[in-house]
Amino acid sequence: MSCDELYLQYHGLLLPNLTHSEKSLKFVREFKFEDDDVLAVTFPKSGTIWMQEILPLILNDGDLTPIQTIPNYDRIPWLEEERLSVVMDQLKSPRGMVSHFPYELMPASFHQSKAKVIYVMRNPKDVVVSFYYFHQSASFLEDPGTFEEFLDKFLEGKLAFGKWTDHVKSWRNTKLGDRIMYITYEEMKEDLPAAVRSMSSFLGKNLSDEVINKIAYHCSFNTMKNNPMSNFSLIPKVYIDSDKSPFLRKGIIGDWKKHFTCDQVRHFSSTIKKELEGESFTLPWNLD
Ligand code: A3P
Repeated sequence: MSCDELYLQYHGLLLPNLTHSEKSLKFVREFKFEDDDVLAVTFPKSGTIWMQEILPLILNDGDLTPIQTIPNYDRIPWLEEERLSVVMDQLKSPRGMVSHFPYELMPASFHQSKAKVIYVMRNPKDVVVSFYYFHQSASFLEDPGTFEEFLDKFLEGKLAFGKWTDHVKSWRNTKLGDRIMYITYEEMKEDLPAAVRSMSSFLGKNLSDEVINKIAYHCSFNTMKNNPMSNFSLIPKVYIDSDKSPFLRKGIIGDWKKHFTCDQVRHFSSTIKKELEGESFTLPWNLD
């Protein structure tokens, strides 16, 4: 299928047609945020489904029912996707959602509410590798071509959800104050109980060590890989073919080392640094 058939264009972003439509985008614009809503925002492949596992456990004091009975995309739906309007009435307060949208596309009610945001970032070199494999398994995304071609598209912002640097800039430069918390995939990977604890405190939850450890166990890569409600095995293979590449693929830090040439590292790093020149924040990774 051609890109025109696979994607729709929205404010300069390419969005997969399979999961987004004019109707779903109108639904977002009119969506009414509640003060106790929690939104996990990510650029794709930065830890979205991980947050779909972590958030319901934190919000329900470690009760496993949501992660054992509701598929991830329905329990913590994407704000911008069609499923939101379908499952909306079943969401229990406090509601959790995820989004790949930039800050500029948040609806008016988001700004009027006190809804909180957890922004998860991942080393973009690992993001692009993960995205590359996901394009191989997902029939609703364009064919990735070679890794070299894919890398160029990533840097030019010609893939779904646009440029990584634009996404990061938009969410690092909000006026949300203490409504937003920043965390990295790498922090979560290095010490998941500590990451769960800081997210819980941010959400006003004072969970015991026992509950924190239980959450971390259920959100480990291996446990999630075996959870049919979270590993996308319920999605027909015609959409996501796990034989080509499983959604929960490797779940590690630094897989980029197996994919980038030295020239690609130089080009990638200098492009990203140039685009972030003059920004008030610094990235937590050395991209060289
Ligand atoms: P890899 O392709 O590098 O394995 P998203 O959910 O934003 O699309 O991100 C998917 C990436 O997050 C995949 O990366 C996936 O394996 C990883 N991931 C999901 N759950 C994880 C977990 N519990 N621990 C570590 N990585 C996880």
